[in-house]
Amino acid sequence: MEAAALALIERDMAEVETLLMSVTYSQVDMVTDIGQHLVQAGGKRLRPALYLISAKGLQTDTGLDQAIVVAAAIELIHMATLVHDDVIDHASTRRGIPTANSRWGDHPSVLAGDYLFARAFALLAKTNDNRVMKELAEVVCSLCEGEILQANSAFLADQSEDDYAMRIAKKTADFLAASCQLGAMAAGMEAAAVQAVRQYGYLVGLAFQVTDDILDFTASAPQLGKPVGGDLAQGIITLPVIRALEVSPHREELRMAIVARDMSDPVLNRCLAIVRDCDAIEYSYSKVQAQLREAIAGLPASLAPEAQRALVAIADFVGLRKF
Ligand code: IPE
Ligand code: IPE
Ligand code: MG
Ligand code: MG
Repeated sequence: MEAAALALIERDMAEVETLLMSVTYSQVDMVTDIGQHLVQAGGKRLRPALYLISAKGLQTDTGLDQAIVVAAAIELIHMATLVHDDVIDHASTRRGIPTANSRWGDHPSVLAGDYLFARAFALLAKTNDNRVMKELAEVVCSLCEGEILQANSAFLADQSEDDYAMRIAKKTADFLAASCQLGAMAAGMEAAAVQAVRQYGYLVGLAFQVTDDILDFTASAPQLGKPVGGDLAQGIITLPVIRALEVSPHREELRMAIVARDMSDPVLNRCLAIVRDCDAIEYSYSKVQAQLREAIAGLPASLAPEAQRALVAIADFVGLRKF
């Protein structure tokens, strides 16, 4: 991510990394191995970064010990969802290295994901802050609902942009929104400003997932550190596909392939070409830009300038990201 966004929280993020390494230690070697495998692979650390920046929303020089704990718990919850998501998606790589399921198998991965969830909430229990626990428990509920909605709508060609928006809100935007909201609450911001920072996180979250769905069509696997082209192969109908189903001259062919549930390689490649060859990617990027503009415009005036700059830099990163 951009240096401007990270300088403000660099020291805190280093503490978060140390804490992540220590809390993923278990007496059972395989549990430690799976947890640390993911911690060491890195990742963008977007959610703890949003939390920590928001926590500096009023005063950027406050050291909040508790904030490190919450930031680490947020990343642990994210890691748990990724471990489970990769089992569901049969994904082979994540963060540029083999996934837990490809290395240790599905069963240990499901249990390791549960372990990481429980670790996260054990950490949060130390803060004695029920609001944080409740908010993050709600995030996990949303994530599960989003993944279930997605699975249930696989290969359904008649999906609206609203259906898609609801799914990605649950899958991704609610988590980024909560990360921002909890940070703003920790900073002691007034209620309206907390709500505004939350809304920024929500919109950045929508944009982030739309970008992820675009990159599944446009990026390469080494760039992303995870497989590409996989969404449509699994019948997941993302915004570029919804758009192509509306405007492509080959939309009937695309629809037939989807409802036939046949995504063998030649069919998949043809469908990918149909999506890439119309305005679907451009259209999806225009949605991303609109969401990010709205996110930045809604930031509260009471934000400290450094925090404001960092949040703008994150929004810029989401709009331009290639990984
Ligand atoms: C992946 O999240 C899941 C999505 C919501 C697209 P990230 O893209 O934040 O994953 P890491 O943490 O950087 O690996
Ligand atoms: C995002 O789903 C994972 C969660 C939010 C749980 P995806 O399946 O779209 O994410 P990637 O592409 O595997 O990172
Ligand atoms: Mg996946
Ligand atoms: Mg998935």
